[in-house]
Amino acid sequence: MAKILNEVSRTFSEFLIIPGLTKAENVPANVDLYAPMAKFKRGSKSSFALNIPFVSASMQAVSGADLAIALARKGGLAFIYCSQSIESQAEMVARVKLHKAGFVPSDSNLRPESTLAEAVALSRKTGHSTMPVTHDGTGTGKFLGILTDKDFWEFEDNLHAPVSRSMTAKENVVFGKVGISLHEANKLLRQRKKECLPILDKNGRLQSLVFKKDYIDHIKNPYEMLDEKKRLAVGCGINTHDFKQRVPVLIEAGADVLCFDSSDGYTQFQCDAARWTRATFGKKVVIGGGNVVDAEAFRYLAQEAKVDFVKVGIGGGSICITREQKGIGRGQASALADVVAARDAYFRKTGTYVPVCSDGGLANDTQIIIALAMGADFVMMGRYFAMTTESPTPKVSIGGRLYKPYWGEGSNRARNWQRYNAESESDFKFEEGIDGYVPVVGSLSDVLGVTIAKLKSTMCNAGALTLGEFMKNAVLTRVSDQSFVEGGTSNIKTMDQEVLK
Ligand code: IMP
Repeated sequence: MAKILNEVSRTFSEFLIIPGLTKAENVPANVDLYAPMAKFKRGSKSSFALNIPFVSASMQAVSGADLAIALARKGGLAFIYCSQSIESQAEMVARVKLHKAGFVPSDSNLRPESTLAEAVALSRKTGHSTMPVTHDGTGTGKFLGILTDKDFWEFEDNLHAPVSRSMTAKENVVFGKVGISLHEANKLLRQRKKECLPILDKNGRLQSLVFKKDYIDHIKNPYEMLDEKKRLAVGCGINTHDFKQRVPVLIEAGADVLCFDSSDGYTQFQCDAARWTRATFGKKVVIGGGNVVDAEAFRYLAQEAKVDFVKVGIGGGSICITREQKGIGRGQASALADVVAARDAYFRKTGTYVPVCSDGGLANDTQIIIALAMGADFVMMGRYFAMTTESPTPKVSIGGRLYKPYWGEGSNRARNWQRYNAESESDFKFEEGIDGYVPVVGSLSDVLGVTIAKLKSTMCNAGALTLGEFMKNAVLTRVSDQSFVEGGTSNIKTMDQEVLK
């Protein structure tokens, strides 16, 4: 007869944290959100760690280059999705890597004969108000001048006029030469009171741009995740089918962390693929495995596949229908608690700490906090990041409100990229994910700022200064349906209700 577990599957919303002693030093400013990602031996440090415990899901609707840049700047890491060609995934990695250098390739360019109307349209499309003018309108053409939104008045000037009449011509532009250091470039921007410095090669061709705002951004983002070359860090989803082709290209492009993107990672395929990756690229490559929902599967990935971290979660994702389609999965809180206990036991036994990531189903900040208190070293989220301005999808207006499309990697929409890959075709298909919309909530920086403030505040309530202390000290209690109701507001009319009346 099949084994039936006594414990029911529990979710994060069934738990609350009981505050511990808040000491004088327990103030948010003292809280450190360092989170190890790569496994490490007792007494040593993880070779790769996050500065905030948040990573974005390897999904088409979530982790593109822009989101990866925004998240790495805040101290987290994005996993660029692998449900695309190897070349385009590597291109996204390259875009992230180029970004940090401070020398940004110019992607909004005009020809001298382009009209101001074309300039306005380009600016709307790319969101950039500084547009270099090159002889052929490319980012590497001969540099002729620069046009910004300060050079003309959209509703007053003749928009049919060529940009060459309004631009600042090259002889009046302060520019740098290829080879200039970022420090020197910033110094030039400061001395000459400029916002943007075009960098030209010896033939006068445009190579890149350096912006004052990027320098300011850098100062404002002290937790940036950087690689050893001081470029932004980025992760990549990988799969067990084409890893022998994909992994070398991603590593060459600069991927810092690889993670298997699979709803069920307790497989020999994943073990073989992880071992091959390790054998081919050595100890330095950081490999994540998963997803799993119990201790046995954790031990398999830690011990046999020798992965660096293990991802937990089957069927809890907001777009996920794996549980109803296939009957596999486990309540996320029960799964996490089981795996965390196995991680701690494995550490006691072997002296190796294998970090655990809670993936999917985090519906709000409270659940993120509970997951970390319960022992997740870091969390992976899809919906949370899909709702931000930086996710790769366009905004859509529905009923007067702004939304963004969000779909599962197991939906037909995501799988369509494989249409031309005959090997992946099978006769019978069913979806494991849905295709829908999520509200737009604003910039990643703002949204994360709120979550981090709440997390730090709760950690202070629990008397913890680090995430390690938080998971060690946290006391969690299960809530009954009644106390759940008690936790909401009672007998109070909220503004929303008043307004909606
Ligand atoms: P969310 O944060 O609740 O939106 O969940 C995101 C997680 O759902 C991802 O990191 C994946 O683990 C999982 N996921 C992504 N696409 C699918 C799908 O199509 N079916 C089931 N799970 C999915």
